Amino acid sequence: MAVRAVSMRERLGMYNANALKIGMFGVNCSSGRSATTVSERWSASWAECVRLACMADEAGIDFILPIGRWKGYGGNTDFHGATLETKTWAAGLLAATKRITVFGTVHAPLFNPIIAAKECVTCDQIGEGRFGLNIVAGWNEGEFEMFGVRQRDHEARYAFAQEWVDILKRAWLEEGEFDFDGEFFKLFGVRAKPKPYGGTRPIIMNAGSSGTGQAFALRNCDAFFTATNASRKSIEGTAKKVAEVKALARTFDRDIEVYTVGHVICRPTQQEADEYYRHVFIDNADWGAVERMMALRNLTRDSLAAEEYEAKRHYFAANAIGGYPFVGTPDKVADELANLSRAGVRGIAFSLVNFVEELPHVCDEVLPRLVRLGLREAP
Ligand SMILES: Cc1cc2nc3c(=O)[nH]c(=O)nc-3n(C[C@H](O)[C@H](O)[C@H](O)COP(=O)(O)O)c2cc1C
Repeated sequence: MAVRAVSMRERLGMYNANALKIGMFGVNCSSGRSATTVSERWSASWAECVRLACMADEAGIDFILPIGRWKGYGGNTDFHGATLETKTWAAGLLAATKRITVFGTVHAPLFNPIIAAKECVTCDQIGEGRFGLNIVAGWNEGEFEMFGVRQRDHEARYAFAQEWVDILKRAWLEEGEFDFDGEFFKLFGVRAKPKPYGGTRPIIMNAGSSGTGQAFALRNCDAFFTATNASRKSIEGTAKKVAEVKALARTFDRDIEVYTVGHVICRPTQQEADEYYRHVFIDNADWGAVERMMALRNLTRDSLAAEEYEAKRHYFAANAIGGYPFVGTPDKVADELANLSRAGVRGIAFSLVNFVEELPHVCDEVLPRLVRLGLREAP
C-alpha cells in the first residue's frame, strides 16, 4: 500500500479539527492514576487496554498517554506495580486502532537513542503516523538503581537528554549516514532506515516541571504537559500560565502547545460524584503508596511537622497523584474542561478509576456537550 504524505500540522492536530484534544492518561499502569484499594480499580491487563483503546478510538478520543514506570510504589495494592512497557504496548494498540494517536514514553538514560529511534519508527509505521513520544529525563532514584544506572544531577540529566533527542531527530530525519561527537555520545556511521511514516516525524512531548525541564521541552518538543493544580482554579490563572509558556517558547523561536492532566469522576448528580470521589481517594486510599510517593519527594514524618504532614498526605491522596480532579455532573465537567480551552490549553489527558466502565458515560454525556460548545467535532 502507498505511504501517504503526512504533514506535521496534521500530526499535531492528531488528524482532526477538535479544538480541545482529549486523551486517556496512565492506562498501562495498574490502578491507572488512582492510589486506591477499591475493587474496581484498573487492572491495566492487556485485554483491558485493548478494549479501552478500541472504545476510545470509536468515540473519537484523540490520544492515549501511558506512564513509563518500572517499579511499583508498594502499599496494599503495590500501586503501579504492574505496568506494560510503553512502546511495545503502543505498537499493539496502534495495530488495533484506526484514528487515535498513541504515545510511548522513553526514559532517555535507560535507552540507547538509536534503538529508541528505531522502536519509535516501527510504532509510527504500524500506526501510519499516529505515534507520539514522551521523553522523560528521569526523577525516580529507586527505578534507576534497579537498572544499575546512576541518576545524573538535575542539570546534567537534561544536558544528556539534549544530546539524546538531537541524535533521535537526526536518525529520524537525516537521509545519509552521520557521526555524532558529543559529551555523552560518540557515534560513528549511523544509518537508520526506514524513516517515520509519511515524510515527517512523531510528535514529541515532555512534562518537565523545573525551569531546566521546561526549557528542554520548549526547545525540543511540540507539546508541553503541565500539572499545575492551583492555576486551574481560575480561567485567568490558567490563561496566564499558558501565555507565559508560549511566550517563553517564542524566545526559542518555537510554537508549543500546552496540555494538562487530570482525573474525571462524572456522575448524574453532584452528590453521587462527590461521594464516589471521597470513597475512592480518601476512605479507600492506598495510604502506604501515597506515603511512598511523598517520601520520593522528601516529604516524610521526619521532614515535616505532624499537622503539615497530615495536610500534605490528604492533598496528595486527593489531588496530586491523579492530577486536578474534575468531579461532578456532565454539565460541570464539560464546563470545567471548556474553561481549559478558553484559557488556551490545547488538550487534557485524564484518568478514570476504571477506564472501561466509566468512559462510555463520559463519551455519551460530556463529549456531546463539548461538541455543542464548539470545542469538538461529533465523532
Ligand atoms: C503528564 C506527565 C507525564 C509524565 N510522564 C512520566 C512518565 O511516564 N515517567 C516518568 O518517570 N515521569 C513522568 N513524568 C514526570 C516528568 O517527566 C518530570 O520528570 C517531572 O515533572 C519532574 O520535572 P523535572 O525533571 O523538570 O524536575 C510526567 C509528568 C507529567 C506531568
